[in-house]
Amino acid sequence: MYSSSDGMTHMETTATIVCTQSSQVLATRLAKELTLPLTPVMRKRFPDGEMYVQIEFASELPTHTHKKTILIGSTSTHDDIIELLLLIDACVENEIILVLPYMGYTRQDQRFRPGESISARAIAQALGARVSQVITVNIHKERVLSEFLVPAQNISLAAEIAAHIKAMISLDEKPLLLAPDKGALGLIQDIAMRCNYEYDYLSKRRISGEEVVIEAKSVPVAGRKLVIIDDIISTGGTLATSAKMLIAQGAPSVHAICVHGVFIQGAYARLKQCGIEYLCSSDTIESAGSGYSAAPAIAQAVREIL
Ligand code: R5P
Repeated sequence: MYSSSDGMTHMETTATIVCTQSSQVLATRLAKELTLPLTPVMRKRFPDGEMYVQIEFASELPTHTHKKTILIGSTSTHDDIIELLLLIDACVENEIILVLPYMGYTRQDQRFRPGESISARAIAQALGARVSQVITVNIHKERVLSEFLVPAQNISLAAEIAAHIKAMISLDEKPLLLAPDKGALGLIQDIAMRCNYEYDYLSKRRISGEEVVIEAKSVPVAGRKLVIIDDIISTGGTLATSAKMLIAQGAPSVHAICVHGVFIQGAYARLKQCGIEYLCSSDTIESAGSGYSAAPAIAQAVREIL
C-alpha cells in the first residue's frame, strides 16, 4: 500500500486481477475499488467446443512482475468452472487469490444417499488445488469452506443489503423483513440489526428442485412494506410461494432482495408477474436485475490479504 499526494491510498501494482467472462462487470468494479489493473483475457472455442484462454499480459508487464493474481469468477454454469480451471493454470506461476462471488454446487454438501457424490467437496477441491487462498460471498453452506484445503473465508453482503433497503424503505413505512426459511435467518438477523427493522421468518418444506411448500403462518402485513430476503433465488419457487401467501393475507406490496440471482427458467420475469413489486440481486451473478454490488465488500477482504 502507498499514499499519493492527494492523500488517497493505493495498492502497489504487485497484484493484478483476472476474471472469467461471466464476472467481468464485478471484476471491473473490483479493479476500480482496489485501483489494480484488470488483465484482459482472450477466449476462443475449438471446433469441438472446448474452451481456450490466454491471459493478455501487456509486454511491459510480464506475468512474473505480478506476484499475486486475484482471480474472480462465479460458478453458476459448467463453462464457468472450466474457465476458472483454465485460468488458474494460466496464472499458476503467481500466487492466486481465488474469489468465488457465487459458488454453485454447495447444496449437495454431504452424502444423503449411498453412492452420491459430495458435489461441494468435489468442486471445492478441484478449484482450491492450486490457489493460495479463497474468498466466497454468502456461500450457501459455510462448512463447505473446509473442503478447499487452503485458507478460505466467506464474506457477507448483509451491510450492502441493509443499506439498499434503508435507501428504499423508511422506518415510517413499517418495514418487515422476512426470511423464507430458517436457513436465511442468520442473514436476515444480521441485516435487521443493521437497519433496526423488524424481522420474522417463514418455514419452507422442499418437495422437489422446483416445488416448495411454505407452511401457513399469519404475518402482520396490514399497512406494512414487506421485504423477503434470501441468499439465492434460483427457480424463484421459494419466493413466489412466499409472496403469494403474503399477498393472500393482504400485503399491500412485497419487495424481494437476494445475494445471488441465479434466475433460471425465466424466474425473474415470472416473479415480477406474480405481484413482487421490487426484485433485485447483487452482481455476484451479473444481470440487469443486479441492484447493488459485491465489489466493495470483496475489495475489503482482498485488501486485508494483500
Ligand atoms: C435454499 O436453501 C436457499 O436459501 C434458497 O431458498 C433456494 O436456493 C431458492 O431456490 P428457488 O428459487 O429455486 O426456490
